[in-house]
Amino acid sequence: MSRILGIESSCDETAAAVVREGGVVLSSVVASQIDTHGKYGGVVPELASREHLRAIVLVVRRALSEAGVDWPDVDAVAVTRGPGLVGSLLVGVTYAKALSLVRGIPLIGINHIEGHIHAVLAEVEASGGSVEFPALALVASGGHTHLFELSSPGSYRLMGKTRDDAAGEAYDKVAKLLGFGYPGGPVLDRLAAYGDPDGLALPFSKMKGNALDFSFSGLKTAMLRWSQSRGMEGEIIARKALLKLHPKPSLEQWLSVTPQETLDAIAAFQRVVIEEMLRRIAAAAESTGARSVVISGGVACNQGLRRAAVAGRLVCPVYFPSPGLSTDNAAMIAAAALPRFERGEFDDLSLKAQANLTLA
Ligand code: KG4
Ligand code: ZN
Repeated sequence: MSRILGIESSCDETAAAVVREGGVVLSSVVASQIDTHGKYGGVVPELASREHLRAIVLVVRRALSEAGVDWPDVDAVAVTRGPGLVGSLLVGVTYAKALSLVRGIPLIGINHIEGHIHAVLAEVEASGGSVEFPALALVASGGHTHLFELSSPGSYRLMGKTRDDAAGEAYDKVAKLLGFGYPGGPVLDRLAAYGDPDGLALPFSKMKGNALDFSFSGLKTAMLRWSQSRGMEGEIIARKALLKLHPKPSLEQWLSVTPQETLDAIAAFQRVVIEEMLRRIAAAAESTGARSVVISGGVACNQGLRRAAVAGRLVCPVYFPSPGLSTDNAAMIAAAALPRFERGEFDDLSLKAQANLTLA
């Protein structure tokens, strides 16, 4: 029975997990740095690498103990080799190399974006189902918004990607602008349910060239203009004060400092982001004859997106990872390594961290 230890440190989560064949997740430990970066309104790369260094040994140890395995039971170590922040990636890659050397187990370098896709494939497999190919995969997170065609589990063709902000980045920037802190996706998602999306008209992107590319900068600018036109300093100050008092405000606390007009704007923003994604998936599904759709990455946690994706125009089945495997984690890295392990495709100690690694 193969068991893979996965390590992920590409951005602001230090994660380790043990996954066995069949995509079964035995443990998945994630040490989030949100508290460290939250006060700066985004990820500070130097702080991120320092936090990874501090956490990694403990996180790996916990992943093994929660999985109930010891080193002799671990058949390989898989690690995110890119894309991401180079200083952060280096911590994981260097530690994984050391483990490979000291424990005498193979090393497998994994592309983070491929990991996000495998989070879904593994869960579907573990639950006894199977994703039908050709499939489409949208990876939408704070760092990427990429749409791929998968003719089979390991073969990717990039169909579209963002030309400016990633979808999660748009959430984070709009949240910061409105005084909601970091990360922005979860709070805006919850508040969107209380607003009327028709309360504010916002622009859709118009793409020249590849119509399946994404752009969220026009939407972000429209939100900026709207907030400036309303002179909303008072409510922004109230929200920042709330964040100082309660680092993780409850829904009721957020609602108490967010007028209806702002809730409507948030709902309108969320609707446009979701529409931008679903329209492209629908167009790509039609042109490729895709038999299933996989949506992953942090933005895949979005409740509005999950509802809209299953409610409507996509004729084929849509698969999302469970929320814990949507945002960055190491189970997805170990899961992506399983087919490589079975084929005996290993890396050696020359494996490098690559900040701009692409998948296709
Ligand atoms: O996959 P992830 O953990 O890290 C990256 O690889 O970037 O994704 C984090 C991103 C953040 O931008 C966060 O705001 C966004 O995912 N996010 C969401 C939601 N939960 C997390 N965006 C929209 N709605 C959500 N519920
Ligand atoms: Zn990610």
